[in-house]
Amino acid sequence: MCKEKYVWLLFISLTLLTVACSDQPQSEGEMYDANQIREELSQLDHNSDIIYGKEIFDDTKSVVPDHVGNELSCLSCHGDGGLAPNSPMVGITKKFPKMRRGKLTTIEDRINGCFVRSMNGDKLEEDSREMKAMVAYFEFISKDVESKKDITWRMNNDKKKVPEPDLTNGARLFVEKNCVSCHATDGSGTSDQTGPALWGDGSFNEAAGMTKIEKATGFIQNNMPKGKEGTLTDQEAADIAAFLLSHERPSGDPEELTDYHLDPSRSYITKERREAIRNGNFDWTSLDVIVPKEKQQN
Ligand code: HEC
Ligand code: HEC
Repeated sequence: MCKEKYVWLLFISLTLLTVACSDQPQSEGEMYDANQIREELSQLDHNSDIIYGKEIFDDTKSVVPDHVGNELSCLSCHGDGGLAPNSPMVGITKKFPKMRRGKLTTIEDRINGCFVRSMNGDKLEEDSREMKAMVAYFEFISKDVESKKDITWRMNNDKKKVPEPDLTNGARLFVEKNCVSCHATDGSGTSDQTGPALWGDGSFNEAAGMTKIEKATGFIQNNMPKGKEGTLTDQEAADIAAFLLSHERPSGDPEELTDYHLDPSRSYITKERREAIRNGNFDWTSLDVIVPKEKQQN
């Protein structure tokens, strides 16, 4: 009887240990099997639409150059063909269509949202072979997900609260934490695959989600420096994010800006804000997500 109890205790502790040590995104839960998906993809006919969709996703800039206005590809933010845990696409087709900012949004709309902002480019035609291929790819990698309720792995890249950033410290950390080795000293990147452009003409435009301070802070903390993910403190991630967003970037197509983007209470770091940040007179605490220095507990 007693022995049995010990065996159970041992079993439970081992299980807990395995869960605690496994490399999973913040939302603890079942992870999809990326290796299995890769294996299944490798079995497909190379001329299939699904594989074409993956090629567009992984190498957007080269495969559909007319739709890309910078030096990025989709995998520059959704690593490993959308299979990496940083912002996974597995299950995505089960989440759309859905209401987003008061509008019924299809998966095609959402893909085009990243084309016009994150890729600083132009939309794909909804019934083009390219759009159908991308959706086919997403459907394939999502096929084992029954419903959106089963998606436990969505990485939360939005920080709820961001400590008031320090720009000088951000500039120092950008070098010290070795971001420069993959993203270059001037932030222009080494390539869309090895270290994409963080600012300048080759980067995402100012309406992209990544220009929100809480998104950039969360993304950097969760995913960078690549190979040492999750090692930056909240303050360090915020400082680096502020440094990154203080530089110039494409402004994007003004027609694509909605009331949502233009609302000053949101934390998009726009041109005006960038200038103020560089001149040292931007009041970070005017943004709701920022926790002022004097309120932080050390
Ligand atoms: C500059 C970075 C960046 C690039 C490049 C990018 N995205 Fe995104 N994408 C994001 C961010 C940030 C989100 C919001 C989700 C998050 O925070 O992880 C997002 C969300 C999405 C979503 C919705 C995800 C969800 O769970 O609701 C889809 C679909 C998507 N992107 C597709 C694409 C496609 C297709 C491309 C290439 C044409 C692309 N993205 C390029 C940053 C990027
Ligand atoms: C070993 C190389 C490497 C290092 C070091 C590294 N990155 Fe990255 N970074 C990448 C790669 C590769 C991607 C593309 C997405 C992926 O594969 O996860 C990326 C994507 C990004 C993105 C989103 C894409 C874009 O163009 O904006 C940001 C932001 C980013 N890195 C910031 C940083 C910061 C800040 C640091 C330092 C704290 C850093 N990275 C260190 C390789 C690296």
